[in-house]
This record gives sequence, C-alpha cells and structure tokens, in this order.
Amino acid sequence: MYAAEALKMEEPGRIEPSASLSARDFGRLSRFIYDTCGIKMPDVKKTMLEARLQKRLRSLGMHSFTDYCDFLFSQEGLDRELVPMLDMVTTNKTDFFREPDHFHYLTHTVLPEWVKRHPGGTLAIWSAGCSSGEEPYTLAMVLSEFAARNPGFDFKILATDISTRVLDKAKTAIYTESQVEPVAIELKKKYLLRSKDRASGMVRIVPELRAKVNFRRLNFMDDDFGMREHLDIIFCRNVIIYFDRQTQERLLQRFHRNMKPGSYIFMGHSETLSGLDVPLVSVYPTVYRKPR
Ligand SMILES: C[S@@+](CC[C@H](N)C(=O)[O-])C[C@H]1O[C@@H](n2cnc3c(N)ncnc32)[C@H](O)[C@@H]1O
Repeated sequence: MYAAEALKMEEPGRIEPSASLSARDFGRLSRFIYDTCGIKMPDVKKTMLEARLQKRLRSLGMHSFTDYCDFLFSQEGLDRELVPMLDMVTTNKTDFFREPDHFHYLTHTVLPEWVKRHPGGTLAIWSAGCSSGEEPYTLAMVLSEFAARNPGFDFKILATDISTRVLDKAKTAIYTESQVEPVAIELKKKYLLRSKDRASGMVRIVPELRAKVNFRRLNFMDDDFGMREHLDIIFCRNVIIYFDRQTQERLLQRFHRNMKPGSYIFMGHSETLSGLDVPLVSVYPTVYRKPR
C-alpha cells in the first residue's frame, strides 16, 4: 500500500490536537458576544467558550481560533456563522415544570382573577427564552387544564429564543421519557403520545397542544421585537442571569412596554428586579406585576 493511501485510511481515527484560544481572540469573541446577544463572558468563561467553539472549528475544518475569528468577523462569516456560533454560546438548560410553584400561583391566583375580568377572552402569554420547548409546553398543559374547568377561556402562547438549534428541537416536540419525568401521570396520559417503537423511549406532545404554541426566533438585543400585541403574562425565567445590570434594565423596560396594565412577569428563582429602574411591583417570590 502507498504511504499516502495508508495516511488517508488512518485519517478518521486520527486525534487532532485541540486549538487553543488566546487572550486576544477571547477578548474579540467575548466583546462580540456581549454586543450581539447581551451575554457576558468574563475571563472565567474562557475555558467553557474554548470547548464549545472547538466544535465549530472542527465542523468548519479550521485549525486555529484566529482563523475562526477572522472568518466570523468577515461579511461572509457574519452571514453564515453568526447563528451557529450563538447556538454554541447560549446555555439552554430547562425542564418541564421547572420551579413548580410558579405554575401553582398561575393556576390558583393569576388565572382566576384574569377570567373574572375578561370573560370569554383569549389570554396572551409569552415564553421569552423558551429553550427547547419544555417551558411553553408546560404552560400549554397548565392552561389547557384550566380551560377544561373554565369554559369560554382560551389562550395562545408565543415562544421565542435566539438559538435556532433549540427552537428546531422545540418545534419537533419530541422528548425522552426521562425528560418528561416531572410531568404528572394524568397529564402524561392526556398530552403525550408514545412512540410506536416503545423501546425508543421517546414521547411527543399531542398536536392540539403543539398548535397552541407559536415558536419564533427573537434576539432580545434586536431593535424591534416585532410585537404588535401587548401581553397578559411573560415568563422570562433563567435568562437575564446571563446579562449585566445595564442590559437587564434595558430589557425589562422593553418588556414593560409590551405588557398590559395589570399583567404579570415571572422571572427565574435566582433572578431579582430589585434595584432596576422599572415600574413593576413584586407580588410573589420572583413574580412581578405592572400596576393598572
Ligand atoms: C437557561 S435557558 C432558560 C429556559 C427556560 N426559560 C427555563 O427557565 O427553563 C435560557 C435561554 O435564553 C436564551 N437566550 C440567551 N440570550 C438570549 C437573547 N439575547 N435573546 C433571546 N434569547 C436568549 C438561550 O438561548 C436559552 O435557551
């Protein structure tokens, strides 16, 4: 066998040395990420960023971060690489029924008051930073349950995220058995379909629930959110934790403009709006309301 052929045959198994990220390229990338999507990248995140972007370098066949940065900041790179790069940079951890007391408060306090004020109305709710769909589908289950007990009540859910990778997953609405573990058994029976291939352990959200959720890509740093309608409720949980105070304040002020008087915003349990210049009133742990 010729040497070149032998080399080719060995190629797939060869272990490439990983490219390393210099302080200069990290500085360029972290500034760009902050400017583009608001996510702060302090020095302690360097190793994480390096590991996540190495996957992009590999799929582009690049061997250095300097080449990657030069490509990313070129016009062609901005057109082609911005979205996949942001897909790698965002942290998308989520769960069905995450922070469950929020859904209890929604069902027992927020919704009963809302139906009294809006008989026969359609509630507009936004899952802002929805990740792979667990949060909006949880909302769809909770609101469907409420609708079954309150004839005439209807709802629609807008679910947005910056990451196209998680949005694609959310739209397929297919999850593993272990991902749907937090869903109560009676809700599983109503709202989840088992795969025909039982051994696969996959389930899918029923079409009636999927039809209630409208997924769309939206970057909170965009000048125009394209929101023509005001919301009754916003869930923006475990998102602003990645932003600095200035970005948090600007975003909350924009949310406030898109909220109806008397509407609610639910934040993550480790997030607080205290100290931000935004006229929202705390009504329950990490739940805020726009005064009427
Ligand atoms: C940790 S997940 C939270 C998911 C869900 N809200 C929950 O609490 O389970 C945060 C989400 O915010 C999204 N995100 C981060 N920066 C964003 C931005 N600038 N615009 C829109 N979404 C963003 C991420 O892509 C990610 O899916």
